[in-house]
Amino acid sequence: MVKVFVVYDTKYGNTKLVAENIIEGMREVGGIETAISDIEEVDIERLADYDAILIGSPNHMGGPVRGVMKLIDKLGKLDLKARWAAVFDTYLGGDFGKAVKKMEKRISEKTPRLKLIVPSLSIKVGGMKGPIADGELPKCKEFGKKIADKLKT
Ligand SMILES: Cc1cc2nc3c(=O)[nH]c(=O)nc-3n(C[C@H](O)[C@H](O)[C@H](O)COP(=O)(O)O)c2cc1C
Repeated sequence: MVKVFVVYDTKYGNTKLVAENIIEGMREVGGIETAISDIEEVDIERLADYDAILIGSPNHMGGPVRGVMKLIDKLGKLDLKARWAAVFDTYLGGDFGKAVKKMEKRISEKTPRLKLIVPSLSIKVGGMKGPIADGELPKCKEFGKKIADKLKT
């Protein structure tokens, strides 16, 4: 079975909810083994054994949090089995797509082995602490489904 690891950072829980909904979407497709972890608890060596790695971050000051960039740097130093990656962020106001763009750039620089399975996902929150804006959560499930479909073909 294809194995997907989802790792995220979150301050208020919204990016975690996005991660969980992505997994839900993958489960609906089936045939994918999933694992999920907060970045603070992740055993980075374990990531080496997965086929795809999904990374999520809240947008802080126009980009991903530092820990996420550090994780990407560390992945570049591992002997990864994974060939696939996808990224997602949560943002407030007009910063659609900003953090994910920086994550994608960092992946291409530090872990060029990882190719993006699907275009990134950027999810709007209604306030600093959330909640996720209306109509955004279904996009997370769709994102998960799209990833699962691609990985199975
Ligand atoms: C220190 C800090 C800086 C932030 N800067 C931005 C920003 O520049 N642009 C933006 O769209 N949202 C910004 N936000 C809002 C976060 O994107 C929002 O809190 C986050 O999406 C919530 O996700 P979480 O519940 O997973 O932490 C900032 C939040 C914090 C705490």
